[in-house]
Amino acid sequence: MDVLLFYFSGTGNTKWVQEKLVEVLNERNHHVTVFAIDCISDIQMGSMCDLATKANYIGFAFPIFGANTPRIMRQFIQSFCSCMSEEPLKNKNIFIINTFGYVNGCGLFNTNKFFKASFFSINQYINIRMPNHAYSKKWVYPKFNSIKEKQKHKAIQKINRLVKAMEKNKRVLDGIGPHLLVGILIRLILQEKLEKAYLGMTIDHDVCTRCMQCVYACPTKSIIWEDETFHFLSSCESCMRCYYYCPVHAIGRIES
Ligand SMILES: Cc1cc2nc3c(=O)[nH]c(=O)nc-3n(C[C@H](O)[C@H](O)[C@H](O)COP(=O)(O)O)c2cc1C
Ligand code: SF4
Ligand code: SF4
Repeated sequence: MDVLLFYFSGTGNTKWVQEKLVEVLNERNHHVTVFAIDCISDIQMGSMCDLATKANYIGFAFPIFGANTPRIMRQFIQSFCSCMSEEPLKNKNIFIINTFGYVNGCGLFNTNKFFKASFFSINQYINIRMPNHAYSKKWVYPKFNSIKEKQKHKAIQKINRLVKAMEKNKRVLDGIGPHLLVGILIRLILQEKLEKAYLGMTIDHDVCTRCMQCVYACPTKSIIWEDETFHFLSSCESCMRCYYYCPVHAIGRIES
């Protein structure tokens, strides 16, 4: 198989899953090209059509934020599709991998609705539980625990199952259940909160060493250093990457 994989990872869980998937695909002699969507340049975007036409499978891996697909991934899929002509992609095999922390209330139906609007339909959908990196009401510097052995083991099992299903072109659609109804509620409650989360982002200037790691790491370029202070922009995805990268825990969030 020739696989084209796009992924987004805020704090590293989905990146870990992506790396394992690549390992499994390579071990089974499949070819895979991977892109972190926040690192794709306009020039690379221009050459995507060729890669996508050549690939047997196109995959998207991303975390669940507020029982939804992260905005950065939704925007990417829209621009990816707008660069492509419909014909070569119409019958492509698509797979989705979601990572989630407590309950994946996003699920296949919500994700599929979005993909259908972009002339894709999903062949395989799996979701993988990972450490929960959702922010709490007050950030109290939760540790970004490395992924537990049990979680790793389960994740690898799911990845193997996915790859075998891809090889046989068999449909696998995980995660269907009553919790998806809870997801509707979570989306209603959290959507606005997530969009406004940037208003509550703070940097403790007494602790901050001005290393700028957060600025460089931010996938949406939402941290600006100007006039000797930091500004967070509304494009912030609430992904917690800045918080995760800051070596001195200077980043926090207050309820806005
Ligand atoms: C802003 C935000 C919202 C989240 N919302 C959910 C959620 O609705 N359901 C869930 O199960 N996990 C949720 N999580 C947990 C993440 O989906 C989970 O930790 C994921 O594996 C993070 O992946 P990453 O490290 O690749 O960014 C959320 C995390 C963040 C940062
Ligand atoms: S400012 Fe921080 S939380 Fe917001 S998108 Fe950038 S890295 Fe993620
Ligand atoms: S990563 Fe932390 S210490 Fe470095 S500039 Fe950002 S807030 Fe300051």
